[in-house]
Amino acid sequence: MVCNKKRVIIVALTFVSVWTCMTFVYFTITFHNQERLTEVQNAPMAATKYQTDVNETDDSDLNETLHQLIDFKDLGRNKTAVLLLIIVTTAPARFERRQAVRETWWKHCSDGNQSQVECVFMTDGLITNRTQRNLILNEKDEYKDIKLQLLKGGRGQFGFRFLNQIKWAAAKFNFQYLLRIDDDYFLCLKRLLSELPLRPKQNLVWGFFHCQAGITWLDEAFMIFSEDIIQKFLAQNQSSMLCHPHADQQVMLWLSNILHKTYFHDTRLHHAPPASFVARFSSISNVCDSHLGAHGAYGKTMYYLGLRANDSSKDVSAIPVFARFCNNTKFDHRVFNPEWRYEPKPCKGNPTWNLGNEMWLGKEAGQGV
Ligand SMILES: *[C@@H]1O[C@H](CO)[C@@H](O)[C@H](O)[C@H]1NC(C)=O
Ligand SMILES: *[C@@H]1O[C@H](CO)[C@@H](O)[C@H](O)[C@H]1NC(C)=O
Ligand SMILES: *[C@@H]1O[C@H](CO)[C@@H](O)[C@H](O)[C@H]1NC(C)=O
Ligand SMILES: *[C@@H]1O[C@H](CO)[C@@H](O)[C@H](O)[C@H]1NC(C)=O
Ligand SMILES: *[C@@H]1O[C@H](CO)[C@@H](O)[C@H](O)[C@H]1NC(C)=O
Ligand SMILES: *[C@@H]1O[C@H](CO)[C@@H](O)[C@H](O)[C@H]1NC(C)=O
Ligand SMILES: *[C@@H]1O[C@H](CO)[C@@H](O)[C@H](O)[C@H]1NC(C)=O
Ligand SMILES: *[C@@H]1O[C@H](CO)[C@@H](O)[C@H](O)[C@H]1NC(C)=O
Repeated sequence: MVCNKKRVIIVALTFVSVWTCMTFVYFTITFHNQERLTEVQNAPMAATKYQTDVNETDDSDLNETLHQLIDFKDLGRNKTAVLLLIIVTTAPARFERRQAVRETWWKHCSDGNQSQVECVFMTDGLITNRTQRNLILNEKDEYKDIKLQLLKGGRGQFGFRFLNQIKWAAAKFNFQYLLRIDDDYFLCLKRLLSELPLRPKQNLVWGFFHCQAGITWLDEAFMIFSEDIIQKFLAQNQSSMLCHPHADQQVMLWLSNILHKTYFHDTRLHHAPPASFVARFSSISNVCDSHLGAHGAYGKTMYYLGLRANDSSKDVSAIPVFARFCNNTKFDHRVFNPEWRYEPKPCKGNPTWNLGNEMWLGKEAGQGV
């Protein structure tokens, strides 16, 4: 009897668990499908103008992209005057990251006053995969916020990308500050805009610095420069100006030739590990009360931070003394681990470092950890 009763209970329990499990699986699948559906619906993939279902390596229509690439023609007096120019560096395939940005902090790019801020995505325009190329052209047509550079994709090109970006910025804009930022960075843009007028107008180098035995360097994920620093970068001798696969090392090499600079190491920037992998960010409220930005905000985290931002002007503290953070301001590219160590070469002549053209996957995929 006891035995039978037990068996009945076990059978009943098994039934209930199996049922619960199946219901859970059903809802999970439905939920994911719905998510995917929303993504697809949001995507500019309807391919009205450009075909996408054709031979992917056929480049007979590459010219279609070529005439849409950025140029460096100086606009002279016709330059757009802005307080802040933001360039988000993004790989062509990162549509979902761009959407997350567009639907969160990007909205403040068009708040009110037009001479405050201009926001653009910049991606590599020499795309050999035809499907990818057509997707980017569609997206560019639809959102009008993407610029294409005369560059192939790949991780050896962060330095060139940056050089191209600042050449374009200086030719087209009259900006007071330039922010170069990654596509997985959540930004408290209103907070930033409200405090910029209180920051130094010259010599400013602002972001998250690393400090290690004997050297310091600014991380390329978030870099703000006052306009004069950008002009000094561009005024370097074109024959001897050095390039490096990584923009941050290249910037530090350039900065070592500039005498006057204010290094602003901003601890309100969350740099690493990626915000998506930090528990604190999954339940944070009013993130912009304590932060200016958070790196590694992938997918849902970006949307979550967008909802929990309370982005607005806050109290502004003075720039902390850099020496309290790091005991030197020197830089030396030779002390990096082999993974990051490359010999700088003159930018002239488009040097390469044999790093391949694969897309930089980043920490989301366990790269560069
Ligand atoms: C695609 O186009 C390339 C270049 O025109 C050609 O070499 C290749 O054979 C084509 N592939 C297919 C599957 O048609
Ligand atoms: C692409 O553009 C170049 C220069 O503008 C031109 O010489 C060439 O014929 C074009 N190719 C095609 C396939 O249209
Ligand atoms: C500025 O714009 C005016 C009017 O469109 C044009 O005539 C002029 O050539 C432009 N100047 C430069 C330097 O591009
Ligand atoms: C718009 O923003 C610029 C740059 O911050 C500022 O100089 C200007 O006074 C602002 N204009 C208005 C009408 O608020
Ligand atoms: C080309 O790009 C599309 C869209 O991103 C991708 O699905 C496809 O696998 C790519 N093809 C090749 C040969 O890499
Ligand atoms: C400078 O700081 C680095 C990194 O914190 C440390 O390893 C080094 O010992 C310090 N050197 C001096 C002279 O304080
Ligand atoms: C620029 O650099 C080249 C190569 O190092 C050098 O020959 C040239 O004299 C430099 N030009 C100026 C204006 O300093
Ligand atoms: C949002 O930020 C403002 C300015 O810092 C602050 O006064 C306010 O309390 C914050 N809102 C909430 C809900 O905490």
